[in-house]
Amino acid sequence: MRLDKFICKSTNLSRTQAIEQIHSGSVSVNSVIIQDEATQVHQNNTVTLNGEALQARPFRYILLHKPANTICSNVDEVYPSLFHYLDVDNVSELHIAGRLDADTTGMVLITDDGRWSYNITTPTNLCAKVYRVGLSRPIAETSVERFKQGIQLQGEAQLTHPAQLSIITPNEVLLSITQGKFHQVKRMFAAVGNRVVSLHREAIGGVHLDVDVEQWRYLSESEVQQLSH
Ligand code: URA
Repeated sequence: MRLDKFICKSTNLSRTQAIEQIHSGSVSVNSVIIQDEATQVHQNNTVTLNGEALQARPFRYILLHKPANTICSNVDEVYPSLFHYLDVDNVSELHIAGRLDADTTGMVLITDDGRWSYNITTPTNLCAKVYRVGLSRPIAETSVERFKQGIQLQGEAQLTHPAQLSIITPNEVLLSITQGKFHQVKRMFAAVGNRVVSLHREAIGGVHLDVDVEQWRYLSESEVQQLSH
């Protein structure tokens, strides 16, 4: 983690104040004064500010049930930020691991651990995201195989990675995907001549949404581990 971030995570200083302290020569790493805020520090380094050893706050891992008409952003835009539903300190340190559109509901993971969220979002890790999808037209049985083989999205050079489609009713399906391209689910159904009318994320990497809309909880240690691979 960068030195300025470490100081923010272990004190109540803002990023600007942390950088000021670093530039003024008040910060040491393993007894050496460091004045470059981009220096990487690790958990086993001893970081001091004005001679006092600092301890970074532990990372946080949160599951939140996103309502419609909120945005996955730290700040309000056309719609309010879903961070309004989180009553925790230092919200600005948190980010979302895999964003949803404003009209999409369901499971959102929130953390301040960038490496962990990378594991969830990077397609090579094959972390499955499961969506319940409402469709404007009945789905064709042949779509199951097409989604498995990969879909040609408009404007993309390559087919989507294999996706698992389960038909619940003609107009409602479950879709499991391991990528997270912009508007991916809506674009996949558009590519087979259908239209998504409702979209809800039910699970990520085997962890299921189990809190009511607008509610949140911390993940258990085993869930955090489960999502780390
Ligand atoms: N795919 C979409 O099209 N929208 C979302 O919000 C998530 C996945």
